Amino acid sequence: MKRYPPIVRDLPVMLHGGDYNPEQWLDRPEIIDEDFRLARLARVNTWSVGIFAWAALEPEEGRFEFGWLDRIMDRMAENNMKAVLATPSGAKPNWMAQKYPEIRRMTLQGIREAQQGRHNHCFTSPIYREKVRIINTKLAERYGRHPALGLWHLSNEYNGECHCPLCKQAFREWLRRKYGTLDRLNKAWWTAFWSHTYTSWDQIDWIDGTVHGLYLDWRRFVTEQTADFMRAEIEPLRRYSPGIPVTTNFMGTFLWLDYRRLARDLDVISWDNYPAYHDRPDTVDVAARVSFTHDLNRSLKGGRPFLMMESSPSATNWMAINKLLRPGIHRLKSLQAVAHGSDSVQYFQWRKGRGSCEKFHGAVVDHVGHEGTRVFSDVAQVGADLEKLADLVGATVPARVAIVYDWDNRWILGAVAGPPKKDGVSTLFEDFVQANYRALWRMGVPVDVIGSEDDFSRYDLVIAPMLYLVKDGVANRLATFVGNGGTLVGSFLSGIADENDLVFEGGWPGPLRQLFGVWAEEIDYLYDDEFNELVATAAGCELGLNRKYRLGRVCDLIHAEGAEVLARYGGDFYAGRPCVTVRREGRGRVFYLASFAQQEFFNDFYSLLVRKLGLRRALETDLPDGVSAQLRTDGAREWIFVMNFTNSAQSVSMPPGKWMDRLSGEIMEKTCVLDRYGVRVLESATRSP
Ligand code: GLA
Ligand code: ZN
Repeated sequence: MKRYPPIVRDLPVMLHGGDYNPEQWLDRPEIIDEDFRLARLARVNTWSVGIFAWAALEPEEGRFEFGWLDRIMDRMAENNMKAVLATPSGAKPNWMAQKYPEIRRMTLQGIREAQQGRHNHCFTSPIYREKVRIINTKLAERYGRHPALGLWHLSNEYNGECHCPLCKQAFREWLRRKYGTLDRLNKAWWTAFWSHTYTSWDQIDWIDGTVHGLYLDWRRFVTEQTADFMRAEIEPLRRYSPGIPVTTNFMGTFLWLDYRRLARDLDVISWDNYPAYHDRPDTVDVAARVSFTHDLNRSLKGGRPFLMMESSPSATNWMAINKLLRPGIHRLKSLQAVAHGSDSVQYFQWRKGRGSCEKFHGAVVDHVGHEGTRVFSDVAQVGADLEKLADLVGATVPARVAIVYDWDNRWILGAVAGPPKKDGVSTLFEDFVQANYRALWRMGVPVDVIGSEDDFSRYDLVIAPMLYLVKDGVANRLATFVGNGGTLVGSFLSGIADENDLVFEGGWPGPLRQLFGVWAEEIDYLYDDEFNELVATAAGCELGLNRKYRLGRVCDLIHAEGAEVLARYGGDFYAGRPCVTVRREGRGRVFYLASFAQQEFFNDFYSLLVRKLGLRRALETDLPDGVSAQLRTDGAREWIFVMNFTNSAQSVSMPPGKWMDRLSGEIMEKTCVLDRYGVRVLESATRSP
């Protein structure tokens, strides 16, 4: 385990700041003066600037106004602050949209969109790319060596797709490079179905959800085209400011771009976190999902600390019900990010604007304009906490467990007809992933979230839930992992199809059939109010699972072929058929979960497995429900975050030794008491640091 260098070279502390839009206040210099005074009070050391400032930077084609930004950057440097400086491509100026209609997106129906909102430019348009190149080059030339520059922030939340002739042509060229001939494309896409055979490349014109190969390739192309646009954005930045890292703000588990692909071209991962911690019974469920998303983002760069680029210091303004954060939640969710490997807590937004649609979105500085608010003091408190945690910068999370989470697998599982959907949407995959993750989360076992093309050998336990789509080479690499003594957990709906969604012949789970030692003959889906039973008997179960669990949604009717049966179905015409199996191979183990059992099953299954594999928990103790423990380490020192996501006080019985809470300075032994929504960062006070 190593310590990574700080993300901003000459600011080796936790970053604390947020999106700042001085361009909305240029006629109010006293406001900008106030912002610098308030930043000090809030213990803010960074602002993200320029994100939507194109119209202020280039008010007319070719006429650039950098004076205002010069003054902001200079003053930030004087105030020892760092700028996360954005390229402005997230919103195009009106003059540009008017003069060059091709930069505006087209809908699937071929309608050119009006100029409005933001995040709606064509990623292919040579004109837009040229305009972006010019402004990015000017920014890089001017600020690339400015002492306030800490980090580049590309655009904003890349997303969306365009169906204009330029994009369609680029898609065809991309396909031509991939398949070479139409014949190969027709075979890969199974186009003889419903007479979809293509006899000329320009017939590829309509993104048709009934042809799954086409659908998958379109999704991949949208990612590739976005990545290509992003690389073009990066080029001038790297040229004029070598050594300044580049990021773009992701949206967590956002479905429509394969972030693992985009991550390759970035130096640092950052993401925008807007959880609904609303003091409702499901706060714990939200917490586990947010933790998962942090783990995913950390894993996108192999464990390198990331940034929480945005979060609201108060309510958002876009949820159905925009509740205020209850006392304690702001601190809890901020430190939760740090617990999972974030080296920052950043906000949207620094100051509320007076007009347009985000004027009521939470901000550090409210319309009242001074520091005497609850939210401001919450923010200042987090600033003080982060200063105490400066020695964590660069420390990572030592995960020996990985969950496989592929974007194309998510795409196809959302598209295939068969598995259950509600209002056209299938939550089966995400829910099943979370059920596995949740069991590890409640034990405080560190987890990475990886892709099926990532290295498995770093882990003792790999969980590949619903690995429907198996890319070339993955089955062999999983077999090698197990052959080397690894433990693999897989499930129903795995090994179904190749990367074009062509179903494997010869029995599921296709290329994984031997590895799991099962043949999945049929799948039964259950109504929401229908259940079956998973009956585990200790006999023959090396884990010692020994009770009945309720199960629902999916029942895979499998035959054990070389695997041992650990549990069987209790009811229906398949009562007595295997429901959980294990195949042993030397020290390696391969478990197959044929159904979606209630959460207690996952909790018991993984707690037995964690014990058997001797996997490290952040804190070697049983945590109360809703309390999470997470671990960061630099290889020598360890920091344990203990977080209470419930709305009542909790007490954790501590493993032997003395512990110091790095936030309060308290020393504790035997028990660690947490307020409602309380958080502590513990360091051993027994071992010498
Ligand atoms: C996103 C955007 C911000 C802002 C916030 C509001 O994350 O990046 O510009 O609109 O949402 O929550
Ligand atoms: Zn386009």
